[in-house]
Amino acid sequence: MIFGAIVAGGIGSRMGVSGIPKQFMNLGDKPIIIHTLEKFILCDKINYIYIGVHKDWTVYMDDLLDKYKIDKERIFIVKGGDDRNKTIMNIINGIEKKFGESDSHVIVTHDAVRPFVTLRIIQDNIDMAVSYGACDTAAPAIDTIVESNDGKIISSIPDRRKLYQGQTPQSFKMKKLKNLYENISESEKSILTDACKIFLLKNEPVYLVKGENSNIKITTIEDYKIAQAMVKGEKIEPNFN
Ligand code: CTP
Repeated sequence: MIFGAIVAGGIGSRMGVSGIPKQFMNLGDKPIIIHTLEKFILCDKINYIYIGVHKDWTVYMDDLLDKYKIDKERIFIVKGGDDRNKTIMNIINGIEKKFGESDSHVIVTHDAVRPFVTLRIIQDNIDMAVSYGACDTAAPAIDTIVESNDGKIISSIPDRRKLYQGQTPQSFKMKKLKNLYENISESEKSILTDACKIFLLKNEPVYLVKGENSNIKITTIEDYKIAQAMVKGEKIEPNFN
């Protein structure tokens, strides 16, 4: 089976808006997380969609599904964890409790705060994870990336043609992701911000899915303003997906 896993366990501290995590802020006429969820609902290859929500906001999330008349048949809400990977693990535990363990289960993990993901990206993730076990969505780097070891002088300027900007979804054979995660040390777990890195640490290949520059993550208030302008563009361009 194929599971969508929308991670929404964060509180959006870098957004600097108190009182509400950024995924619940409105973009156009509905919350960011509803935009994201609707992109996953569009994909009929996905059997069920799990949303990992900060523990104080699960009831609020459930109310949102009602408010925006989302059919709940394919959707489950679980509590998020202390970090992003723990939220993913809580989702996996929820899936396994309900549907059991299977080598063929695939999980398509996605940031709740990337509402401009496209159906093509989601479908490519599914195909790639089914075929190869792990994939990451990435777009070719636009800016030249400079590296500095001390934050004062440049230590290197890597060849831009080899550099990509990591996005989500990141998709995996679910059982393998869980087994690899359980076999890394607690200190490694504490510095991991990226689920794909779990595979890399164990020398497992992660394939690339072509991302889009429009698949932005809303992290700061500047990103939010850009996203608001993009939502208006989405309405003018019905074929955006
Ligand atoms: N996330 C999660 N569980 C956590 C932390 C983050 O599911 N314990 C999710 C966020 O809700 C978000 C995604 O991971 O959808 C990307 O994380 P980020 O943009 O860093 O979100 P926040 O942690 O909310 O933001 P900040 O770091 O500014 O507090």
